[in-house]
Amino acid sequence: MTALLAALCALTLVGRTGCTDNGLGGNGASELDYTDVELGLAQRGPKFDVAHSKNVTALVGKTAQLNCRVHDLGNRTVSWIRHRDIHLLTSGRMTYTSDQRFISVHNPHTEDWILKIRFPQRRDSGVYECQVGTTPPIGHRMYLSVVEPLTMILGGPELFINTDSTINLTCVVQHSPEPPPTIRWTHKEEEINYDSPRGGVSVITEKGETTTSHLLVQKARPSDSGRYTCAPANANPKSVLVHVLSGEHPAAMQHGGQLRLQYPISAALLSIMVTLMGYFYKQDIRDIL
Ligand SMILES: *[C@@H]1O[C@H](CO)[C@@H](O)[C@H](O)[C@H]1NC(C)=O
Ligand SMILES: *[C@@H]1O[C@H](CO)[C@@H](O)[C@H](O)[C@H]1NC(C)=O
Ligand SMILES: *[C@@H]1O[C@H](CO)[C@@H](O)[C@H](O)[C@H]1NC(C)=O
Repeated sequence: MTALLAALCALTLVGRTGCTDNGLGGNGASELDYTDVELGLAQRGPKFDVAHSKNVTALVGKTAQLNCRVHDLGNRTVSWIRHRDIHLLTSGRMTYTSDQRFISVHNPHTEDWILKIRFPQRRDSGVYECQVGTTPPIGHRMYLSVVEPLTMILGGPELFINTDSTINLTCVVQHSPEPPPTIRWTHKEEEINYDSPRGGVSVITEKGETTTSHLLVQKARPSDSGRYTCAPANANPKSVLVHVLSGEHPAAMQHGGQLRLQYPISAALLSIMVTLMGYFYKQDIRDIL
């Protein structure tokens, strides 16, 4: 029967793109399918399990894994191709790139073909194709995005706060592939203890695409001064230096307790930068002329 099918296939597709062994691709695919169904011999070629071969978001520096699940692979090989430069990275379990960060992993008891990328960088982001060596080959594309999570404390790097007002530190975590499972706060390198005799210390964390964590310290006193660090479990830590001002401070009174002296400073820096940019811009034009 197989020989008959092959013969039929050859007849049906004479002068066409060729006889595919998977019933996909090529101009004659529909005719081939029709023949197969009539003979009750519908051939089952390899099929991608798209639900298990998805886009991946990975962290800079942390091993990334692209998974390709193929049903009914038979004895065909699975290759990984990077689209950016149409580079064959791996084929079967062999690695074809000199970049040793790329590793092909396959457990024979599964239908999963994994491309591991060690120490991924942002430039590794892009389209990767898992290709099955049928004739012609079939492929499934996946997008890898390598992201670097960003942690910031609003109003940092230095905050000036009046005695007796509330210290409100807002830590924002962006671009993390998933919300940080935990966010630790430390004061002077020591874990903040929310049940300490000091009292009046609390944290409110809102998780989401952007996660924010507010550390609130009521009735600030000079001993609350010092470095505060926000350390998300899956992103870089960020610190802020808090100065609790003792005694009267006229400017602070007008600003409802929390003084943000860094704003005028950044404004000054910005104007210097703009001036410098203007300078270099003129230089460039002069160079061109
Ligand atoms: C795959 O197996 C078929 C028979 O099942 C054989 O004809 C074919 O040569 C094999 N292909 C490879 C690449 O081993
Ligand atoms: C994968 O990512 C690409 C590029 O961002 C996008 O166009 C495509 O829709 C994504 N696919 C899925 C299944 O999310
Ligand atoms: C703390 O500051 C943030 C950002 O300015 C603000 O959204 C939040 O409401 C403040 N929380 C309290 C309790 O003051």
